[in-house]
Amino acid sequence: MLNELEKILNNFKTKVSEVKTLIELDSLKVEFTGKKGLITDVLKKLKDLTPDERGKVGQAANKIKNEILEKLSDVKQGIEEAELNEKIANEWIDVTLNKSESKIGALHPVSRIQYEIEDIFTSMGFEILDGPHCETDYYNFEALNIPQDHPARDMQDTFYFENGAILRTHTSAIQVRGMKKLKPPFRVIGPGKVFRVERTDASHEAAFHQLEGMVVGEDITVAQLINTMKTLLSEIFKKDVDVRLRPGFFPFVEPGFELDISCLICGSKGCSVCGQTGWVELMPCGMVHPNVLKAGNIDTEKYSGFAFGLGLDRLVMMKYQIEDIRHLHSGDLRFTGQFA
Ligand code: DAH
Repeated sequence: MLNELEKILNNFKTKVSEVKTLIELDSLKVEFTGKKGLITDVLKKLKDLTPDERGKVGQAANKIKNEILEKLSDVKQGIEEAELNEKIANEWIDVTLNKSESKIGALHPVSRIQYEIEDIFTSMGFEILDGPHCETDYYNFEALNIPQDHPARDMQDTFYFENGAILRTHTSAIQVRGMKKLKPPFRVIGPGKVFRVERTDASHEAAFHQLEGMVVGEDITVAQLINTMKTLLSEIFKKDVDVRLRPGFFPFVEPGFELDISCLICGSKGCSVCGQTGWVELMPCGMVHPNVLKAGNIDTEKYSGFAFGLGLDRLVMMKYQIEDIRHLHSGDLRFTGQFA
């Protein structure tokens, strides 16, 4: 039996010299010193020996077991140190590296399209406005002709703070801030993040991006609205895109429209993004409701205006043929890296 122990020890020595990971080391520990391990097997057989032999073998077995445990602990320490060193070597950041030596980041596709659209609008004389993510009920709903009990609020459930503030559900809140700040005539856009309580799916997210537009002046017409929208779309897609205009209801415009574009993902054949219809709702718009102009202290006898809201995430999906909105917020570099 002493021979057997000798063999176990030699076997252990060969195996331990080949171990590279903590997992391998653990299974070696189980194999040799575990409850059903090789050493335990020997100890179980002690009862069949004479008392004299039992003493000798027992002592030898314990000695070998301790030797094995000591070696395992040494090797463990070595592996842990090596892993730490490797981590330090791979994860350190040299803040003095210059651009050519480091991997540089790039704009997210939504930011990229936002800046492109900002350029298109500024070239048409629009001013860019910003607004807070955390809004008051007044700016998000009340001033937009959506009083407390209006059913339109059901479509835009959001996140409420204890003090009554909310996360804005649309960039239309920026219109109100714009009207209060500027004197007509003016043309503004307001891009940004918006939030809603949504069941997420291929085309819905709880946080997404919109770009609001508003033009206020004398004799503003639907024809000007349509022309502005068409100019914008042909600039974005660099080609003529089929559009259709349907009546649409939004409390802050009268008349209101839904501007749809033909689905560029499936070539209008029908897919999960366009809900099998071949059309994607892209730009709700309309002539600003007099109640909204009044809330912005604008003389409704003298001035009128149009407004529109643009879903930036959808636009990115159409432009780059992305089939699921959830990719955009996934943080997956394999996805975002494609736009670098
Ligand atoms: N705020 C609306 C929404 O998020 C979109 C919208 C509709 C904006 C019509 C507008 C508009 O400016 O005229 O659903």
